[in-house]
Amino acid sequence: MTAAKPLAIALVLALGATGALAASAAETAIATRQAGYKKVGAAFKAISDELKKGSPDARLIATNAQIVNAQAAQVPKWFPKGSGPEAGFKTEAKPNIWTDSAKFATAAANFQTEAGKLQTVSASGNIDAIKAQFRATGGTCKACHDVYRVEK
Ligand code: HEC
Repeated sequence: MTAAKPLAIALVLALGATGALAASAAETAIATRQAGYKKVGAAFKAISDELKKGSPDARLIATNAQIVNAQAAQVPKWFPKGSGPEAGFKTEAKPNIWTDSAKFATAAANFQTEAGKLQTVSASGNIDAIKAQFRATGGTCKACHDVYRVEK
């Protein structure tokens, strides 16, 4: 009988730890994707700024296109179930990401496709082609934000 009490305590501790872990997992997921999108935003802006110049630096564009593409590949990992607004942390992710998950996956895949092309075309150094592909990639940002990100 003496073993019952420590066991009960151990169970309570284990359950408590599970709850805390879930919350911190959601917080980590949100922080991870926000940091990822910040990288995407900064790299995309760097390309945009460069393209506005008289003679854009193709190498700088290629470096940033690589960052965008690398982050785009991570997007499917950034939205685990339970990391939406219901988790109680500050996030601009809308609940329809999870209720409309097939369409959201398509939006993420479109981004990946266009970001991949942007990296390829950036390596070519053809500024006109880069400009066109930059616009196409930007269209996939907007398409997703319009539906799945809280408007500010
Ligand atoms: C598949 C959907 C999707 C695509 C594609 C997408 N985003 Fe986002 N983005 C989001 C969501 C959702 C958030 C909100 C994340 C959060 O707050 O948890 C976000 C947030 C951001 C943020 C704010 C990050 C922060 O918290 O400070 C920036 C900047 C951003 N996106 C830039 C971009 C750019 C630039 C592109 C395209 C090159 C892009 N995003 C493509 C869904 C997307």
